[in-house]
Amino acid sequence: MHLRIALLAGDGIGPEVIQEAVNVLDAVGEVGGHTFEYMPLLIGGAGIDAHGTPLPNETLQKTLTCDAALLGAVGDNKFNKLAPSERPEAGLLKIRAELGGFANLRPAIAYKALANNSPLRHEITEGADIMFVRELLGGLYFGEPRLWDKQLRRAHNTMVYTQDEVERVARIAFDIAAKRPKKKLTSVDKANVLECSQMWRFVVDQVANEYPNVTVEHQLVDSMAIHLMTRPRDFDVILTENLFGDILSDESGVITGSLGMLPSATVGGKVNLYEPIHGSAPDIAGQGKANPIGTILTAAMMLRISGGLETEAKGIEDAVVQVLEAGYRTPDILSRNVDGQHAVDTQLMGRLLVDLVKANL
Ligand code: NAD
Ligand code: IPM
Ligand code: MN
Repeated sequence: MHLRIALLAGDGIGPEVIQEAVNVLDAVGEVGGHTFEYMPLLIGGAGIDAHGTPLPNETLQKTLTCDAALLGAVGDNKFNKLAPSERPEAGLLKIRAELGGFANLRPAIAYKALANNSPLRHEITEGADIMFVRELLGGLYFGEPRLWDKQLRRAHNTMVYTQDEVERVARIAFDIAAKRPKKKLTSVDKANVLECSQMWRFVVDQVANEYPNVTVEHQLVDSMAIHLMTRPRDFDVILTENLFGDILSDESGVITGSLGMLPSATVGGKVNLYEPIHGSAPDIAGQGKANPIGTILTAAMMLRISGGLETEAKGIEDAVVQVLEAGYRTPDILSRNVDGQHAVDTQLMGRLLVDLVKANL
């Protein structure tokens, strides 16, 4: 297998975690005779610093020639005063729109070895295994008009969806649910207040008719935030619009133990985009404290979805379980007063995973 991969390391801890994912990919390639060709490209603050724009044209054009794109994170506090359209985050939103992937898959799993890391009790998180399907190209993020009118001292954004946009992401969520053991889909909305959500619910129910084997429920987003923390094991596939999914998937970091553990894959467009769900973490950037596991699991999703390399993806996911069971912990997953843990930095966590992946394959 040969994969051309656009490497969009970005800002903050982005380059640190991407390097570890590349090392793991190289190990997979070495063992299995696969070649991964990387194309390092600038995005976010790195794009602004070098070319005055968060998505340089070269980045977009070259990414469009690749089989997959792997992104670290974008964003830096030094750009906080810029308008949304000029910030590093605008580069990420623009490349998402240009690549066209509309279904962002965000799995959240409770690892046994990390049971002590969650503020939730074991019996609540044990066995939790959720797949968020977050709509990624609609809603408030992209709706027009949008404006902060400083003279009028007024600002507005627009939440907008078409039925087709809801239908296509719902279909992906149902397809995934139909293949999972629990075969359950929870659609999240705010249908008691928003027209967008009433339409969302209507379309989801229509698509549900095509999937008689999948159990469907609807939840309002506010109470869903607490159900997710009090009974995460009751959920299987969770389908949401863009902003609700952004918030709830970060919240699911509590189930896993750290935001740094969570991967994602965006499918449905010209080039699939793979990114951990966390951001550039300016508070820990450059200190070797970043947990690379979310990005390494993201690379596993890339091998599975874009490369068809199921065994290799599983080899990485098993290595993550093994490294956690052996007690290795970056600072974000280090528990106080628990024996048998070994504190490691970003690079050592990466090296341990490289060795385990090689042994697994
Ligand atoms: P964040 O996800 O960067 O960090 C939140 C908290 O989680 C911080 O305390 C951070 O140290 C910790 N954390 C995050 N990832 C970690 C990891 N891999 N290992 C250990 N700890 C980790 O969110 P934020 O602080 O709200 O945002 C910082 C910047 O990142 C902002 O500019 C934001 O816009 C941007 N952001 C980018 C993306 C992306 O590029 N996909 C996603 C979210 C936020
Ligand atoms: C994420 C991030 C992005 C989002 C930002 C940085 C645009 O929070 O990937 O979750 O809101 O989608
Ligand atoms: Mn987010």
